[in-house]
Amino acid sequence: MHQWTSWRSVAIATGAALIVAACATAVPEWTSQAIKESAAPLEMKDGKQVQIRYNEGPYSPFAAIDWSKYRTYAYNETIPQPPVVKAAMPKDVKGDVEKGKKLFQNRNKAPCTGCHVVREDIWPMGNVGPNLSHFAEKKFKDEFVYQMIYDMRSVNEDSHMPPWGTSGAFTPEEIVHLVAYLQTQKGPDVKRKDPNIDPSTRYVSEGFGDNLDPTNNPAIAMAESAAAKVWKKAGPNGKTCESCHAGGPAKMIGVATKWPLFAKTYNRTMAIEDFLGPHSKDTMGANLLPAQGTDNILTATAIKMASNGMNQNIDMSSPEMKAALERGKGSFYNRVGQRNHACADCHTPERGGGHFLGGRLLPQVSMPMNLHFPTYRTNFAKVWDIRKRFQWCTLPLGMNFIPGDSIEYAELELYLASFGQGKPLRVPGLGH
Ligand code: HEC
Ligand code: HEC
Ligand code: HEC
Repeated sequence: MHQWTSWRSVAIATGAALIVAACATAVPEWTSQAIKESAAPLEMKDGKQVQIRYNEGPYSPFAAIDWSKYRTYAYNETIPQPPVVKAAMPKDVKGDVEKGKKLFQNRNKAPCTGCHVVREDIWPMGNVGPNLSHFAEKKFKDEFVYQMIYDMRSVNEDSHMPPWGTSGAFTPEEIVHLVAYLQTQKGPDVKRKDPNIDPSTRYVSEGFGDNLDPTNNPAIAMAESAAAKVWKKAGPNGKTCESCHAGGPAKMIGVATKWPLFAKTYNRTMAIEDFLGPHSKDTMGANLLPAQGTDNILTATAIKMASNGMNQNIDMSSPEMKAALERGKGSFYNRVGQRNHACADCHTPERGGGHFLGGRLLPQVSMPMNLHFPTYRTNFAKVWDIRKRFQWCTLPLGMNFIPGDSIEYAELELYLASFGQGKPLRVPGLGH
């Protein structure tokens, strides 16, 4: 078996054991210096508890919920992996096909259609899991199908389908309806009028054109003008970036090829985005560039642009970097949130990577996935750093954020970056 198995067995142990196992050196404490939204704090508004999230809407209903019962990426997480449950199908509920069909299609609850094709024409259907349009022909007993949906891990220890019953995403009654619906999936092969309905015949778009063409990617001009202002702005001590880094970000040629790195000054792994806030505080008297703020992201973009075309060349040789990389890999394979999903479930080819999740083709970690960040998102008309992408990826898993500048995310980014070694930077990216 590939590395998955060993990481999985580590991750199955309690969170505490995971930390001990993966830590060659201790992870220091870090107090976030990011903008408030970055940690999505809970606040009372009009008598209701809401989370303060980024203002790009519309978020799914997931954003309004406090998920603190479920595992996060924090290294000091104490919530264990949910144990595998063998559940008996309730005998007093009669399965209702129509109810089951609605539940199967309810994208806010759990997007069964995000990973499975069924007989009905539904948009968007994905193919991370098997095509279910002939499922009933397998003639599985209802009780067995119930168990599969309730907690697939009892059937396949390594399953990357979330345990829908164990996690509480669906009630036992609802799962009975889902079973009744799936037992209708039989008959001749389905002919689709629109080939895009089925991921196996779907047209894959070519992307958004050249991300380094300033007439095509608005983030280039945004970064240049924001960074030019940042460079001249004085801190409380009268110093500017220009005082010490003459010539602006364009002169920082090759700098970005070496990050993320272990910054001795702060005793932690950092990307440039993590560094700019504390660095401005120490050199200029105030944190002028809090992580995940617009100026931070655009300044980091401009600094990275000065290394475009140059190969990423991170020095991974120190014990600190080696330990950080191991921890980052641990996070990548760590299952979290109500859905009990890992990054690896969606971003490695032996799992969902390269398949469609709903309408979206899942990128694979080996691509690599880091070299074009920060990236312009056409649908929000905003530039995102990679941390916001992590948070966006994990929002529907049913989990709370950890702050964007946390050590955990920096080391996860380092793991993604380990696939980018020797390959050229091409910042800013461009995508939907
Ligand atoms: C994130 C992707 C994902 C989602 C969402 C998902 N599944 Fe699955 N499903 C899978 C994968 C992958 C398998 C393959 C079996 C395994 O992992 O062991 C599977 C297998 C199955 C099977 C067994 C198929 C067979 O032929 O053995 C059933 C039934 C099923 N899923 C039902 C559901 C239902 C119902 C939902 C919604 C509540 C759902 N799935 C949501 C990924 C997913
Ligand atoms: C008082 C001088 C001073 C000021 C002001 C200052 N820096 Fe620095 N900067 C340094 C020094 C010295 C280093 C190298 C030592 C270190 O890493 O802390 C550095 C390192 C950096 C690096 C990493 C360079 C590398 O080779 O990896 C970046 C990026 C950076 N600074 C950006 C900025 C930005 C952006 C500003 C303005 C917000 C700024 N600095 C303000 C002195 C300064
Ligand atoms: C349930 C599936 C799922 C999980 C789990 C998931 N992602 Fe993603 N990820 C996606 C989707 C979907 C996209 C967007 C694909 C697209 O661009 O259309 C994406 C995109 C990304 C990208 C941007 C890639 C690029 O080329 O621009 C990064 C980086 C990323 N994910 C990292 C992560 C990390 C790290 C984790 C774990 C913390 C994670 N993802 C967990 C589904 C997932």
